[in-house]
Amino acid sequence: MKVIYQIYPLSFKDTNNDGIGDIGGVIEKLPYLKELGVDYIWLTPIYESPMIDNGYDISDYYNISPIFGTNDEFLKLLTEAKKMDMNIIMDLVLNHTSSEHKWFKEAKKSKDNPFRNYYIWSEKPSDITSTFSGNAWTKDELTNEYYFHLFAKEQPDLNWQNEKVRHEMYKMINYYIDSGVKGFRLDVLDLIGKDVKTNKLSNGPYLLEYLEELYETCFKGKDIYTVAEMGIPLEVSKIITEKGYLSSIFQFDHIILDEVKGKGKWALRDLELLELKEVFNNYQSNPSIIPLFWSNHDQPRALGRYLNLDYRYYGQTMLFTLLYLQRGHIYIYQGEEFGMSGLGYQPINVYKDVESINFFNYSKESTEEKLKSLKVKSRDHSRTPMQWDDSLYAGFSNRKPWIIVNPNYQEVNCLKDLNSANSIYYFLKKFIELKKTIKTLSKGSFEMLLWENEDIFAYKRTLDETYIIIANFKDKCVCLDLKLQDYEIVLNNYDTLTSKLNPYQAIVLKIIK
Ligand code: GLC
Ligand code: CA
Repeated sequence: MKVIYQIYPLSFKDTNNDGIGDIGGVIEKLPYLKELGVDYIWLTPIYESPMIDNGYDISDYYNISPIFGTNDEFLKLLTEAKKMDMNIIMDLVLNHTSSEHKWFKEAKKSKDNPFRNYYIWSEKPSDITSTFSGNAWTKDELTNEYYFHLFAKEQPDLNWQNEKVRHEMYKMINYYIDSGVKGFRLDVLDLIGKDVKTNKLSNGPYLLEYLEELYETCFKGKDIYTVAEMGIPLEVSKIITEKGYLSSIFQFDHIILDEVKGKGKWALRDLELLELKEVFNNYQSNPSIIPLFWSNHDQPRALGRYLNLDYRYYGQTMLFTLLYLQRGHIYIYQGEEFGMSGLGYQPINVYKDVESINFFNYSKESTEEKLKSLKVKSRDHSRTPMQWDDSLYAGFSNRKPWIIVNPNYQEVNCLKDLNSANSIYYFLKKFIELKKTIKTLSKGSFEMLLWENEDIFAYKRTLDETYIIIANFKDKCVCLDLKLQDYEIVLNNYDTLTSKLNPYQAIVLKIIK
């Protein structure tokens, strides 16, 4: 079981006061992360990039973007982290490059350019739509053909069926392994096996073959932790991890429960606890160790998304309890450790993200409807600067940051939590210690309890001992039938425990009878 902390470098800590977070900021905060109990630090892409999709559009895989620092500073980060017994997880974007990558610049020059076949071209576009709205084919005026891009038009998809492309990618990964990188998060990895002609995109016909090749060429026999972002069925995830091609795979079924099924991420509905139980229970059947996460740089912070913000402390600690004592790795997204929440309703000019802006421009709904969707789902809610303290710009920078600071920073910030014994930060820290020291909580079996209860999420972990974890998912009191004399209270986010659970009350009990 590992504790993995995700950093969104653009918004973590700015040390040269240009309003953008940098590697220096990550180095500065290493002791802070160590103190929390972090083992691995996942950095979203810091490579050279025109930043159309905030680094997921890479123009040079071998160079660190100057906005974040230099290659030497990156190596220093690896060394400094290592000294504290922490490792760095790099983000690998293998499905596409930036349109500014030298391969694409070459490929565009002519139909017979040696790099043409690094990308996917067609004389006629099909009707596949891009994840970032609009058609997935864009016309290249010079050669009069269309190139394929599942994301922004500045992110052309690589042609993985071209062996040269695959070997370029493996070479680059091995370069980072040789530099001392011990972990990788693999971006939209399911898409590499696609076949555009037959419109088989996610979980495509070549997926297993390429994953095996990737594993054999890069990861096999090395001490590397891999976690892939893949939109594939749980059964396929099981096959891939059982074969050992990847260490773990993110699952997204719990993240789409507040969407109207089949209508995409912007069509909103309330999350039903019974559905959440079913999804988590399915995950637990996976033989690999599951990445347990609520939010990331794409998924708005859970606190305001699912819960009533009047109960920030109770809500956030309840969310930790519900999720993190399940079988799996603890994933913390920057700021979750002291209860950062999303921006709430904002006018369109506040949004920076290409996905949000494209949705606003392309979608046919009313402006009011679109702003309502953005209020809940825009990726910018988790991309605002870290709120380190209550000074101007929240201690992130001395200069106006590249993206709006959440106006709640005087109320919600890291320093405040560090200075108060009863804070979200200290709850999480205690919690991590528990999971690291009690074998039953990391290795024990998982059993869902109170299946039919619409308010309470409860489960049991059993190995040498038995622990019961109970979380009231609602912002109201709910009754719970417990014989308290049979249990020892290991953790409780309130001071008392009665047969009526308080709003968002969460407890960990050990059976003593
Ligand atoms: C992944 C990343 C996301 C990015 C997309 C395209 O989903 O997490 O931030 O926009 O891939 O690379
Ligand atoms: Ca900076």
